[in-house]
Amino acid sequence: MTSPVIGIFDSGAGGLVVMKALIEKLPHVSIVYFGDTARLPYGDKSPAIINHYACTSAAFLAAQAVNMLVVACNTASAYATEMLRKELTLPVIDVIAPSVAMACRQSKNGKIAVLGTYATINSGCYQKLITFLYPGAEVTAIACPLFVPLIEESMTDHPATALIVAEYLRPLRSAGVDTVILGCTHYPLLNAVIAAEIGEGVTIIDSASCCAEQTFQSLTDISSTQIAETPSYRFFVSDNVERFRKLATAFLPALPSELDVRLALHD
Ligand code: DGL
Repeated sequence: MTSPVIGIFDSGAGGLVVMKALIEKLPHVSIVYFGDTARLPYGDKSPAIINHYACTSAAFLAAQAVNMLVVACNTASAYATEMLRKELTLPVIDVIAPSVAMACRQSKNGKIAVLGTYATINSGCYQKLITFLYPGAEVTAIACPLFVPLIEESMTDHPATALIVAEYLRPLRSAGVDTVILGCTHYPLLNAVIAAEIGEGVTIIDSASCCAEQTFQSLTDISSTQIAETPSYRFFVSDNVERFRKLATAFLPALPSELDVRLALHD
């Protein structure tokens, strides 16, 4: 019996954080990963460009005969999820809805913060969904554009990062939030610094594990009887294979160091 295959795409290597959560939850499932490294970051692009990039990245994975698509990039999820659901015949899982549902279940006072890229925050997507699921909720949405480069430069433990985290999260000091959503692929790698800044008693929700749980449930619905032999993991990027390999060892250390990463060029 063949294993179901999940296609995951992100603007780059950050989606490997989601892949890690998926492997933990679904160790039998094969995965094809696409990182759109030629066109990252998505987080400072306009809606039309993000939709276009998401569309071509998803089409590439659909052509690899995947059974399900996971949009691991929060920015792409914010803009393109509905469009991809209309255009593809595959089930499409995004990283936003599962984490918002979890945040709304966890929050006691309805004061919820979300951190993300400029594009994600400007989309208003989290704000709309949170207030839909938790009427009367107060949302504090903060763009944190320096977090991704700091993480990719392995500066998570650097004192400069603690200062930048403190600066971005300053509005939270008076907002009274009890729940913070990490609305970007990379931010779980800053979990400890963010937790130290916001203090005790605030729940941090990470998109990756919520997305993995949702994927697990959806996959059970479509392929309850299929158990894999040994799962396979294939990687494609649109540029810079070596940089992707290097980041992969930081984001998903359990993978073999000599990953089979191939170039998949866009027009
Ligand atoms: N993957 C993006 C996200 O989750 C962060 C990096 C980028 O801006 O492309 O929003």
